[in-house]
Amino acid sequence: MNAAASSSVPSVSLEIDDIQSGALAHRPVPYVGRFLLLRVDDRHAGRALLRRLLPAVDGGLPSADPNQDAWAAVAFTYQGLRALGVPQESLDSFPLAFQQGMAARADLIGDVGESAPANWEPPFGTPDFHIAISALAPDVARLEKALARGRAALQETPGVEVIWQQEVAQLPTGRTTFGFRDGISYPGIEGVGIPGSNPQEAPLKAGEFILGYPDETGNVPPMPGPEVLGRNGTYLAVRKIHTNVAAWRQNLRANSSSPEGEALLAAKMIGRWPSGAPLTLSPEQEDAALGADPARVNDFGYRKDDDRGFKCPAGAHIRRVNPRDADVIGVVRMHRIIRRGTTYGPPLPEGVLEDDGAERGLVGVFIGAHLDRQFEFIKSQWVNDGNFIGFPSEKDPVAGHHEGTGTMTIPEQPIRRRLQNLPSFVVTRGGEYCFLPGLRALRWLAELDS
Ligand code: HEM
Repeated sequence: MNAAASSSVPSVSLEIDDIQSGALAHRPVPYVGRFLLLRVDDRHAGRALLRRLLPAVDGGLPSADPNQDAWAAVAFTYQGLRALGVPQESLDSFPLAFQQGMAARADLIGDVGESAPANWEPPFGTPDFHIAISALAPDVARLEKALARGRAALQETPGVEVIWQQEVAQLPTGRTTFGFRDGISYPGIEGVGIPGSNPQEAPLKAGEFILGYPDETGNVPPMPGPEVLGRNGTYLAVRKIHTNVAAWRQNLRANSSSPEGEALLAAKMIGRWPSGAPLTLSPEQEDAALGADPARVNDFGYRKDDDRGFKCPAGAHIRRVNPRDADVIGVVRMHRIIRRGTTYGPPLPEGVLEDDGAERGLVGVFIGAHLDRQFEFIKSQWVNDGNFIGFPSEKDPVAGHHEGTGTMTIPEQPIRRRLQNLPSFVVTRGGEYCFLPGLRALRWLAELDS
């Protein structure tokens, strides 16, 4: 077996049709969907299920046909690959973070306190979570049709159990639970043919996101073996994140003297206005036309347009997680990521400041070929630390873990403003690292015979 095949793999053009669509293509807008987590109690049953699911898993870029039923993707945890009987030599060739699983990396990525694995929803953080299936569709009818096929496959396969499900749906506002539009920014990838959202960012090498191709270092990074399993695969960091919308609104109210002040403060923390209009291009007020214009909404840099952060603070969420051309320690292109965020739970009605106890938030899927220098780096260095922007004691005001003592510096003239005593606005309900194999690899897994 060719475990951990490395840089000798020749560079070839991207085999798009072998890559699961969920890795490269945007989800439908609007969308409804469901995430299912499965436990495989019998390896033969697990493989039989994969054989039944294979026809439903899309490869390549999804068809533009509006009648397309659903976008389905299948991914595996380390424990899942083991449960399917993947040989040990192959399991050992996966990166350490994937082998250990997300719960073991909790301290590194800032899942502590209320977000610690001890408080996660099972099966997150347990060895029972083996397979993740996501199905997304433009409407409930088409989702149900796709799910019915999946249910039939499961009923025919005793020995595999659905152990967790999560419904997701775009809110009627098209926004996330905090009231901001998401899914605006994404990197371009060489060879895919979908331009990135930022016209000022050159497309990234395919190897940043898909295994088997050169990445930004110029090398083909190690991939798990055998090659048929690793090639055209990628890794997912899957997260269920509860958003404490009441605390967010209360904090904005407590730190502002007018509704306009609250809106500006929220935008300073995110880096965009609710419509998506970036502060860097519209520093004083919301600009819905800018937010809705795909040609302009990402056409900016920080060094060039806002070096000192008077428009968008260096500590704002979007400037931290993608500092673009800003002068920060490190090479930004080594830490780019694809995101697929979906929303769950009811919105907290407009104007309500008291917590209603409802669960609401996002299921976030962060995609890249390098868990350590992409998802884990962003979480540990850019979200939960501030050294790289010269504020060592500060964290991401929205996505960071705060113990009621969070701070954020907002550059202003004549004197900067500093937010104090920020609580955590988000709580991790669970998370895991998954491997999203290519279609040939899925078939290889389905046909394992030991
Ligand atoms: C925890 C709750 C989070 C919320 C509510 C949230 C919300 C948002 C929003 C509203 C945007 C702006 C929309 C866009 O530019 O597409 C955004 C962008 C982004 N977020 Fe988050 N986010 C969260 C966590 C994270 C985490 C944990 C990461 C990374 C590990 C992350 C990475 C990004 C990236 C890379 C962008 C695009 C920035 C750009 O390219 O300008 N987010 N997020």
